[in-house]
Amino acid sequence: MKNRKNVAVIAGATGVAGRTCTEFLAHQPNWDVIAIARNCSSLRELEGSLTLVEADLNDKQVLAKRLSQFEVSHLFYTAWVNPPGGLRDKGQSIIEPMQIQKQMAFAKRWVVPQLSRSRRLHDLFYRGFQRAAGSLDLDQRNLKMLSNVTGVLAQPPHRLKHVALLTGGKFYGMHMGPSIYPGYTTPFTEQTPTHPGHNTYAEMEGYLQEVANGRFSWSVVRPTFIIGPSPKPSQSIGYSLAIYAWLLKALGQPLIFPAGSQAYSAKGHYSSACLLAKMLHWSATDPNGANQTFNLVNGDVVSWEQLWPWLGDYFDMPIEVPADGMSLKTLLKDREQTWDDLRQRYQLPPRPLDSVFSANFLGASLAINWDATYSMAKAEALGFDQTIDTYSMFADLFATLEYKQIIPSKKRV
Ligand SMILES: NC(=O)c1ccc[n+]([C@@H]2O[C@H](COP(=O)([O-])OP(=O)(O)OC[C@H]3O[C@@H](n4cnc5c(N)ncnc54)[C@H](OP(=O)(O)O)[C@@H]3O)[C@@H](O)[C@H]2O)c1
Repeated sequence: MKNRKNVAVIAGATGVAGRTCTEFLAHQPNWDVIAIARNCSSLRELEGSLTLVEADLNDKQVLAKRLSQFEVSHLFYTAWVNPPGGLRDKGQSIIEPMQIQKQMAFAKRWVVPQLSRSRRLHDLFYRGFQRAAGSLDLDQRNLKMLSNVTGVLAQPPHRLKHVALLTGGKFYGMHMGPSIYPGYTTPFTEQTPTHPGHNTYAEMEGYLQEVANGRFSWSVVRPTFIIGPSPKPSQSIGYSLAIYAWLLKALGQPLIFPAGSQAYSAKGHYSSACLLAKMLHWSATDPNGANQTFNLVNGDVVSWEQLWPWLGDYFDMPIEVPADGMSLKTLLKDREQTWDDLRQRYQLPPRPLDSVFSANFLGASLAINWDATYSMAKAEALGFDQTIDTYSMFADLFATLEYKQIIPSKKRV
């Protein structure tokens, strides 16, 4: 039917990716958006053509019922549930970047060369690594959620035209690096094979392509660290960096880079949540995006060598980069007390530190001492040529954090 409105379901609408995607799409002309999460309260402040549906993606019957009044044309799948045992289960226990680097160097020297001798050792090693990284989903929790919602929307009254699936750079093993994964090569292109061992993203992508089978089109988008506003931000490097800076500032310390000189010069990217929303939308609506997989990173390659001095300027702090790193545990020893003092001093609303800051996520993210670069050539060749500058992206996020009184406002300091 001509001019019929697109009706999108966004699964995982409250996540760091899903929230910005929801906000973006709800403001596009000709789109009605249905946001799904188990708890949608953080989306009530959003405007636009938006309906909030609280449902568990594990419950197919409830999903079918709650969505039965709509005729959904597009699914944007941005949900994720953490498999047990991973990084996110470690609470506020601190992961030391230098310790991770030492363990990986040990594995490279003593363990990885032995893996070709025994299939069992090979599988055990990669499973152990994946579990620690939080990406070993042997129970297929994520695949089940994807298949439940896709299964519901592939049936009437829905008129499913496209499913856009969000996965990520862990498809390529960006979290393993060359020490653990000898076949690791960058920049990642969409043809770069997946890493050894179990890979949840590969499983989900394979499922989507198989189930679509000409009935509806699909696209897969693979970002790296996503930066954007999030109601559950403790696993966001953007939030954790800003709060790390403020904690050190409150202690009278310079902005210390704790992960050593190799990590300082390693090259990588970030993925703006806003740019990601635009690509998900483009891949779901432009014929060139149909049935394709795309990387999604900002337009610039960056390293801490460039970003750290910029962060120092932004937060008005001198920087320090000890070549052999520094213990985060020592640096953040009294962080709860420092946070409380900081909040009182700048009259910030009461907010537990662990709701906006994760020392373990910060430590694990900074520990990356290998290049993790992505090619955007495929998307550009097919017509998605939008880019974003990483520095402006961080500045926007920090301004949002100031506006929401998560960190002190520079204007009031
Ligand atoms: N964050 C990053 O930097 C990053 C980088 C690269 C790739 N990725 C990938 O991008 C995807 C999205 O990640 P994210 O960081 O945006 O995730 P996130 O912030 O943890 O959000 C996950 C979303 O899924 C929803 N969800 C989880 N279990 C659910 C259930 N049973 N029923 C309904 N909704 C459920 C959550 O809402 P409720 O809990 O309220 O239900 C939330 O809206 C994942 O595949 C992730 O690995 C993320």
